[in-house]
Amino acid sequence: MIEKYFGFTKDPFKNTVDLEFLFWAENIRESYARVLYQILEAKGGLSLILGEVGCGKTTLAKLLEKDLKEKDKKPYLLYDPLLSSFAFLSKLVKNFTGKKELPRSKNTLREILEEKFKEEPFVYVLLVDEAQLLRKPLFEEIRLLLNLEIPEGKLFHIVLLGQPELRKKLKKYPALMQRISIAYTLKPYDEKETEEYIKHRIKRAGGDENIFDKSAVKEIFKATNGYPRLINTFCSNALFIAFTKGEKKVNKRIIELLKKDFEFHVG
Ligand SMILES: Nc1ncnc2c1ncn2[C@@H]1O[C@H](COP(=O)(O)OP(=O)(O)OP(=O)(O)O)[C@@H](O)[C@H]1O
Ligand SMILES: [Mg+2]
Repeated sequence: MIEKYFGFTKDPFKNTVDLEFLFWAENIRESYARVLYQILEAKGGLSLILGEVGCGKTTLAKLLEKDLKEKDKKPYLLYDPLLSSFAFLSKLVKNFTGKKELPRSKNTLREILEEKFKEEPFVYVLLVDEAQLLRKPLFEEIRLLLNLEIPEGKLFHIVLLGQPELRKKLKKYPALMQRISIAYTLKPYDEKETEEYIKHRIKRAGGDENIFDKSAVKEIFKATNGYPRLINTFCSNALFIAFTKGEKKVNKRIIELLKKDFEFHVG
């Protein structure tokens, strides 16, 4: 109903990762370029992407997964790293080799991976989302996998994406810390980018990019600190209020009404 009311073809502020709505904010542009460079040029190794909740880590991971495939790499995006070493190695073997029948020994699984990486050096990429959840045995597996190398470099690439506490966890593993070739922290948007982000999503959804007036954007930025997930939440609620009031534009007053409901979000 709201979509029709505002002339959208799609919900512009749905809180899911949808690359159709991808906004090239500075944070994603830079992190994407740096990681891609590491994978394509510097080849194997370890990249680290940090960012607070809701700032775009999963979006970046999905974008890398998609684009790496197009560049003839073989990426695998692991969403849930709360696994035993055996389950972790099994998943990698399954996804990197397509094997369905898996051996029961961790050593054999490691050997299969080594063979695969040697067959096609610098082709396989493991992207680990929610990497702040990784536990000791998997850090150890990652370290072992990163030991696999040929004179030209590490045989494959790992990208860890996680909340800032991941850095603290990694500090306990100096051998891994030393292998990090790039570390990048995704920052939330500034006010200008917040405005561009809102306009971009509305335009993508086929609507009038000026639905939110300047005063509303300013308030949204203040209320969300520029975190895209929160911006989505604010904007979609604001559109709902505008709709119930029969208004076609969103101004500061609507955002102020919302702020009271969302105080707990931004503290
Ligand atoms: N570059 C972007 N372009 C378009 N939308 C984005 C972008 N970055 C983030 N978003 C929006 O913000 C929401 C949150 O982003 P995302 O899920 O990537 O954050 P996250 O850092 O992985 O969060 P969490 O720490 O909770 O896992 C996404 O659902 C998406 O709608
Ligand atoms: Mg995420």
